[in-house]
Amino acid sequence: MTIALHVNIDHVATLRQARGATYPDPVEAAMVAERAGAHGITAHLREDRRHVNDRDVRLLRQVTRGVFNLEMAATEEMLAIAREVRPHHVTLVPERRQERTTEGGLDVLSSLDSLKIYVTALHELGIKVSMFIAADEAQIAASEASGADQIELHTGDYAHATGAAQIAALAALARGARLASQRGLRVAAGHGLTLANVGPVAAIASCVELNIGHAIVSDAVIMGFAPAVQAMLDAMRRAR
Ligand code: PXP
Repeated sequence: MTIALHVNIDHVATLRQARGATYPDPVEAAMVAERAGAHGITAHLREDRRHVNDRDVRLLRQVTRGVFNLEMAATEEMLAIAREVRPHHVTLVPERRQERTTEGGLDVLSSLDSLKIYVTALHELGIKVSMFIAADEAQIAASEASGADQIELHTGDYAHATGAAQIAALAALARGARLASQRGLRVAAGHGLTLANVGPVAAIASCVELNIGHAIVSDAVIMGFAPAVQAMLDAMRRAR
């Protein structure tokens, strides 16, 4: 099976917001990313709108030719936006205002009843739902029980570890991906992936999609956006 790259354009918007300017435009970056071979575009609309804003998600839905994946917290405000924008996929993520980025996976197990309501509401809108979780058996089982179509495994622990800890984190990801796909869930992964560390994750056979943002935007500053997307696609394909 091939593996898809969904480019997360949040940090193009971070650069824009750093100056309160109108540039660089994450919508333009999304178009460049798809022309360079990305299979989809991901954006996280945070409660505090620290990077991507409402205008961005509306336009991203219109210009994206592949999959538009909206990452959002399970809140009434975000559900109303999903109802208006109709992304192809929604990834439900935990969100804390003070965090620098999405630091942990969603605790689907503890919030199963309320998350089921969001999954049902999103399905009624024709939107596929993914749960951003740790590679933990109980969270995978709860994600299946929630009715979600997909899980996205949080690769942050793997990305930030070294040596034996990194090997153990990779083994947990591979085991989680296998378990989830045996349960009929589509498997994605993401967070903290770079050209240097993407290979072993892209090699996990049951993982069919990676969501990568910060490293691509960072590489883009040095090498240009399209070459940065192409370099990531090449690294993923070499590992397959
Ligand atoms: N997937 C999810 C659910 C995320 O929240 C993020 C970070 O916003 C990413 C993937 C991408 O992480 P990174 O920017 O480190 O590539």
